[in-house]
Amino acid sequence: MVSKQLAIIDADHQPFVVTRTGLRVVGTPSFEEWKAFGYKLTLVGKAVAIATGDWANYGKERYEQGRYKKVMAILGLKYGTVRTYASVAARVELSNRLDNLSFQHHAVVAALPAVQQRRLLARAEKDHLSPFELKRVAGTGRAKPQPPMVKGTYSVIYADPPWKYEYDSSSRGDPQKFYPTMELEAIKALKIPKALDAVLFLWATNPKLAEALEVMAAWGFDYRTNMVWVKDRIGLGYYFRGQHELLLVGKCGDLRTPTEAHRPPSVLHARRGKHSEKPEQVYGMIETMYPHREYLELFARKPRKGWAAWGNQL
Ligand SMILES: C[S@@+](CC[C@H](N)C(=O)[O-])C[C@H]1O[C@@H](n2cnc3c(N)ncnc32)[C@H](O)[C@@H]1O
Repeated sequence: MVSKQLAIIDADHQPFVVTRTGLRVVGTPSFEEWKAFGYKLTLVGKAVAIATGDWANYGKERYEQGRYKKVMAILGLKYGTVRTYASVAARVELSNRLDNLSFQHHAVVAALPAVQQRRLLARAEKDHLSPFELKRVAGTGRAKPQPPMVKGTYSVIYADPPWKYEYDSSSRGDPQKFYPTMELEAIKALKIPKALDAVLFLWATNPKLAEALEVMAAWGFDYRTNMVWVKDRIGLGYYFRGQHELLLVGKCGDLRTPTEAHRPPSVLHARRGKHSEKPEQVYGMIETMYPHREYLELFARKPRKGWAAWGNQL
């Protein structure tokens, strides 16, 4: 296997020259040369983190501290990043590393004894575990605790709950590979900081529609309507292969409906992003429907200007 060898790509490797900004083809490489170079390039791309760690460890051991640090500075390498690479490389012996796994997989097991590292990495490779899932299996990653609810009250609330599914955890669609999920009763029990007059936009995956309506009622909102997000790519499903998701709307108190000019169509065509990611356009849509309000996103994964956000992956 060549894959554990370090591929060296530099200006001397004719007929390809790699520069910081791209690749120059010098001359007329044969198909085999072109293919071999692509292989090396891909290999270096995949190996770069852990190989940089090995490189740094060698330099630290071999040359005095000052010289080693100077090179880091000249190369523009961030000391903290290289230290992380170096620490994983030092803890996971070369013979324990597996070609098909990423740097993140190796980082997950780095603090464990070598025997455990071997067992867990082999399992990750066999069962195609993501680093997140490997963390769970290894017991090295505890879910971040539930953060305290944000202060204040909000008249516009947008939520995308971490529904727990009944199917087995090796299933491709299992959200627990990406984030911790919550029991229905725990979602319903959340104390929602809603204003007396408020509106709720609640994402419901198709299998969880009944539960979403339960959550809406438990949070004190009356169901009003929904809109559909039609995705550009088809997904998984036991009856239909899913290509849409519903955004339910509920109301509490007496918040006026949007003025006619601010009512969007009930169908949104938008691309499917990474797992569970909802279309960016929805924020703008809500802000147009309810301008100048106090907005709160529950189960948020990234902050948005003008919005309060709550979630354990922020
Ligand atoms: C369906 S995802 C939200 C995705 C988000 N709408 C987006 O577009 O990226 C649910 C989120 O709830 C978070 N979560 C799970 N359990 C939680 C808890 N107990 N408290 C707060 N957040 C939690 C998950 O980690 C995940 O980030």
